[in-house]
Amino acid sequence: MAKILILVGTESGNAQMVADALKPVLDAAGHAVEVTDKATRPAELAGHDVLLAVCATHGSGDIPTNILPLAEALERDRPDLSGHRYGVIALGDMTYQDTFCGGGKKVDKVLELCGARRIGDRLEVDASTQPLPDDEALAWIEGWKVLV
Ligand SMILES: Cc1cc2nc3c(=O)[nH]c(=O)nc-3n(C[C@H](O)[C@H](O)[C@H](O)COP(=O)(O)O)c2cc1C
Repeated sequence: MAKILILVGTESGNAQMVADALKPVLDAAGHAVEVTDKATRPAELAGHDVLLAVCATHGSGDIPTNILPLAEALERDRPDLSGHRYGVIALGDMTYQDTFCGGGKKVDKVLELCGARRIGDRLEVDASTQPLPDDEALAWIEGWKVLV
């Protein structure tokens, strides 16, 4: 059993909806799961061995404001997260082309910089072709949860 913290980066609620849909699936797999859109300090990650970032993209490839302080602190302070594993679900929209899923990609990068090891491939959900991001995430989590 893993202690999983789902980190939500959202401006308009899609990422929260995805996180809320995934929590019961991970609970049922026997994990202890918390969901937060309020983590701002790296110390808040300490009690969890697996992180799952569910992160939208805003502005021009930017990280949502609620999770930006955490991402900036991770990049600046580089806490040792080598004891952590993580997954990333990036939400974006292909019509933004060059900045597609930029928020989730940046969060992926800072977690890697801190030594955390990613489990599986990053899921990138395109809002222009996938109106219900939780459907795609629910399919993806089936493969991810067995790797945890
Ligand atoms: C103002 C605005 C800017 C956006 N910029 C990007 C972007 O640069 N790249 C991208 O892939 N998606 C972009 N998106 C799409 C969002 O990431 C996508 O709709 C996502 O599902 C929103 O999730 P949220 O409701 O959790 O914030 C943008 C959306 C808005 C409204």
